[in-house]
Amino acid sequence: MLTRDAALEILHEFTKSESLRKHALAVESCVAAYARKSGEDENKWSVTALLHDFDYEMHPEAPDHPMKGEPILAGRGVPEEIRRAILSHANYSGVPRESALEKTLFACDELAGFITAVSLVKPGRSVHEVDAKSVRKKMKDKAFARSVSREDIVTGAAELGVELDEHVDFCIRAMQERAKELELDGQRNGQTTTT
Ligand SMILES: [Fe+2]
Repeated sequence: MLTRDAALEILHEFTKSESLRKHALAVESCVAAYARKSGEDENKWSVTALLHDFDYEMHPEAPDHPMKGEPILAGRGVPEEIRRAILSHANYSGVPRESALEKTLFACDELAGFITAVSLVKPGRSVHEVDAKSVRKKMKDKAFARSVSREDIVTGAAELGVELDEHVDFCIRAMQERAKELELDGQRNGQTTTT
């Protein structure tokens, strides 16, 4: 099994964008928290989350992402179980989500992105200011963070078998625990920035 550090190295090799790296860490925060909750292999789940969009800069178009990334990961010794989970997070891959890892990755992916977006419009730009209620409210605002699929968030929670509010709350807490690393702790809110 690949270590978390080895996965981070691959992520950094292929992903130069800070926001995409942060996205990987945000999804990892949520997925790893679920692994701990259910007694699953946290390292394996972390590696999967860290690598799920590793080829996105190289392959910004579907279906190249993640289909063409998969053989690269195979070449780096990433186990089949993880590669399959990564393929399954794309609805168009034809790989159905079956394992708990696959369902968790999908359920956390768009939601972690959405929680990040909600954090960044808070006065202190901090995830500590976010709660499930504010996330649910923003989900109804179609103009806000348009690129995040509300449908995937709702479907993800349903596939996971978790009530949506509970899932949102769980992921917020998981991201709060790592707020500093995600730069969502209000310390980088740029007091010097104007509007
Ligand atoms: Fe993602």
